[in-house]
Amino acid sequence: MADKITLTIDNQPVTVAPGTTILKAAEQIGVKIPTICYHDYCTANGLCRICVVEVEGSRTLVPACIGKVSEGMKVQTHTERVETSRRTILEMLASSVDLSEAPDIQEYIVEYHADTARFPEAEERQPSVIDDNPMFIRDYAKCILCWRCVQVCADDAQYTYAINFTGRGYETQIGTFFNKSLPETTCVFCGQCVGVCPTGALKPKREWLLQNGFSQNEIMELTRSQRKQHTRREVPVANKVEQE
Ligand code: SF4
Ligand code: FES
Repeated sequence: MADKITLTIDNQPVTVAPGTTILKAAEQIGVKIPTICYHDYCTANGLCRICVVEVEGSRTLVPACIGKVSEGMKVQTHTERVETSRRTILEMLASSVDLSEAPDIQEYIVEYHADTARFPEAEERQPSVIDDNPMFIRDYAKCILCWRCVQVCADDAQYTYAINFTGRGYETQIGTFFNKSLPETTCVFCGQCVGVCPTGALKPKREWLLQNGFSQNEIMELTRSQRKQHTRREVPVANKVEQE
C-alpha cells in the first residue's frame, strides 16, 4: 500500500497518509468543513451529516468526518447540492430542538441562511429537565442526539456505560437503564459528558440553578439535601425550579 495519498479538495492538491479522513485532509489545507456530532477526542460515527461533501463518482454525498481519502479523489466541499443538504439539516434540527445554547449551530444557521421556521408543523421535543443528582442537570429538549456523551461515558474515555440511547424514532433520547436516576447507575460523575455536550443539554447544576434565579445559599442548601436523598425531579421546560 502507498504510504501517501494525493487528492484534490476544492481543486487544491493535498497529500496525506492513507486512512486520513476527508475532514482532516481538508483541515491540512485550510478548507473548513462544518461539523456538529464530530469531536476530536470522540469516535466519529457520522450521525448528523452536516459535514457532507461531493466526491466525484459517488452517487451520494459523503460525510467528511468518516469518509476516508483515496488516491486521485476529487472532493468539492461547498457546491450547491452540499449547501442545500447542510441547510436542510439545520432547518430540521431547528424545528425540533431548542438550539438556544448551541453557539456553533447558531453560527451555521446564519452562514447557510437556514430558515428556522421552514417546518412550522414540526413538533418540538420538550421533555422535562431531569434533576436527579447534585452535579449536573439533563435538559434533553436541547439534545441533538450527537452521541458524544454516550461515547465518552463508554469506550472513548470513562468505560462507565451509565447512559445510552433509549426509545425509537421521535422518542429517541439519551437515558439510563430502566430510566434509573444517575446516582443509581454506574455513573461516577466525572463530568466528561458535560464537557463534550455541544448544546447545553448537560449543564453543571450550579450554573443551571444560578440561571434559574437561585442564590448561592439556596444552591448550597438544595445540593446538600439532594446529596443525601438522591432524589429525582422532572422540571417542566422554562419553569423556574421549585425549591424543595
Ligand atoms: S446530551 Fe449533549 S452530548 Fe449527549 S447526545 Fe445530547 S447533545 Fe450530544
Ligand atoms: S460531523 Fe460528520 S456526520 Fe456529524
